[in-house]
Amino acid sequence: MRRQWQLGLSLTLLGGIGMAGPVLAAEAEPKPEQARQTVKALMDELSGELEAAMASGGPAEAIDVCVERAPEITARLSREKGWRVTRVSDQVRDPLLGMPDAWEQRTLAQFRARHSDGESLKGMSRGEVVSEPNGDYYRYMQAIPMQKVCTNCHGTEDELAPAARETLAERYPHDEGTGYEVGDLRGAFSIKQPLE
Ligand code: HEC
Repeated sequence: MRRQWQLGLSLTLLGGIGMAGPVLAAEAEPKPEQARQTVKALMDELSGELEAAMASGGPAEAIDVCVERAPEITARLSREKGWRVTRVSDQVRDPLLGMPDAWEQRTLAQFRARHSDGESLKGMSRGEVVSEPNGDYYRYMQAIPMQKVCTNCHGTEDELAPAARETLAERYPHDEGTGYEVGDLRGAFSIKQPLE
């Protein structure tokens, strides 16, 4: 188990490095609608796989969907689109993949504020053209609300699935991705389209 995880980690690292630079293809103009559709496809694919894994092997098997499949799917979408497609959180379990940059941190804070002002997290999003030192980007984020199934691995101490608890403790010694209740903001999907 341990060795498998280390292998997974180094592959993830390699994947991350490969994704970082020149594969990005610049768009002539922002593509908000395509960003929205890409997030929807990602969400459908992830929740489909999560539900199937929970049904066949319970939380112990479903962990691999969040550990392996989520980064695989976001990496594949990044390659297909030429954008950066990720999942981020302001309380990360995996700091290698889930750490938000400055714009993402501000957006997560904005989502929290809008939520406490009464706006539903379902479909909550923000899109903006942002000038960064290395160019302009269309950036899009969409909130990920906690659902019941997520509490198995992201819930409060008494809700974490016993089958997941030990694996999570072993793999993520600095895990901040727990303590959430259904309806909380768990994180967000984030898309970055380079502009010409
Ligand atoms: C069976 C366990 C399990 C379930 C169920 C689960 N997750 Fe996760 N989740 C994980 C693990 C493990 C990671 C870290 C993945 C990695 O190493 O990149 C993670 C990472 C994430 C991240 C990336 C940010 C971070 O903290 O690293 C988000 C966002 C997330 N999960 C949301 C959800 C949502 C929403 C649900 C319910 C629809 C859910 N998860 C259900 C185990 C789970």
